[in-house]
Amino acid sequence: RPRILSGMQPTSDSLHLGNYLGALVNWVGLQEDFDAYYFVADLHALTVPTDPADITRRSRVTAAQYIAAGVDPERSAIFCQSHVPEHTELMWVLACQMGFGEASRMTQFKDKTARGGNANVGLFTYPILMAADILIYDAARVPVGDDQRQHLEITRDLALRFNARFGDALVVPEPHIIKESARIMDLQDPTGKMSKSASSDKGLISLLDEPERIAKKIRSAVTDVDGEVRYDPEAKAGVSNLLSIHSALSGTSIADLEMQFSGRGYGDLKHEVADVVVTAVEPYQTRMAELMDDPAELDRILAKGASRAGEVAASTRDRVYDRVGLLPAT
Ligand code: TYM
Repeated sequence: RPRILSGMQPTSDSLHLGNYLGALVNWVGLQEDFDAYYFVADLHALTVPTDPADITRRSRVTAAQYIAAGVDPERSAIFCQSHVPEHTELMWVLACQMGFGEASRMTQFKDKTARGGNANVGLFTYPILMAADILIYDAARVPVGDDQRQHLEITRDLALRFNARFGDALVVPEPHIIKESARIMDLQDPTGKMSKSASSDKGLISLLDEPERIAKKIRSAVTDVDGEVRYDPEAKAGVSNLLSIHSALSGTSIADLEMQFSGRGYGDLKHEVADVVVTAVEPYQTRMAELMDDPAELDRILAKGASRAGEVAASTRDRVYDRVGLLPAT
């Protein structure tokens, strides 16, 4: 089976609806057909100064959320990035293939530094570590939301460049981005994406929010004044976002939803979206509570995942080290 890989940063105590619909739901579906590797990007999380206890707690919470959403630890490897040192080993080799100017043009770094704040060198090299995360597993596909597109492009460029210089050694990965759910928007400002760093509390749905709170946030989502339930992300960002959320969770196509809601008001739409989200989130929260009750079991799952991932990663690292001419360590 071809390999697939993805990860999330443990930067908050709950994933949000964007992480869930943009990425996690697809991870679950893809484990059927792919040999899947899903990791907690704990090293990436260090690029933002964070209390060590928060990193520890959120790493377990993030792994537990993968499982609560339906990632099966018997079938897919679930692990922490820091437990597989080959990620950072490959990163160094890739860093030596990347131009300084090229790295400076990555939008995430430019945006974060433009907003002020003290960027560290880790943030600057963030995309190179991400490329290593992917390339170390020979991943054919990477299921992510739309905001990761540029990172995947640079990953492909680095793989192609490496292969051109040293002979085919790295698999060039394809992004796996589902158009309709790749960009879940902020409920209060539907022209911006739902984001843990940029959204207000009312604009963001945490998967571990109280169900009543979730329903309330959806009922007070910003829409528009023309009153027609129609999908048009340019002109009707708020309504279109609600339709995307409904469709991604219910499986009903957006065209069918438009028909069902024709002649009905936004109030009806919001009530139904709230129901759909709450119905999805309730069993997820129950499962989360069980998982968090047994951290030792979670740590066992992570250890098993790391050892499975480590085998693949070590063989890619050896191949890459050999290609660039490093002496074998034996
Ligand atoms: P992160 O932790 O910011 O986000 C995790 C995943 O959630 C998706 N996402 C969204 N999708 C739709 N709508 C939104 N509003 C929304 N917000 C977030 C993201 O696209 C992502 O798929 N750099 C990555 C972590 C990473 C990684 C990797 C991913 C590190 N190494 C290797 C894939 C492969 C990140 O910060 O994701």
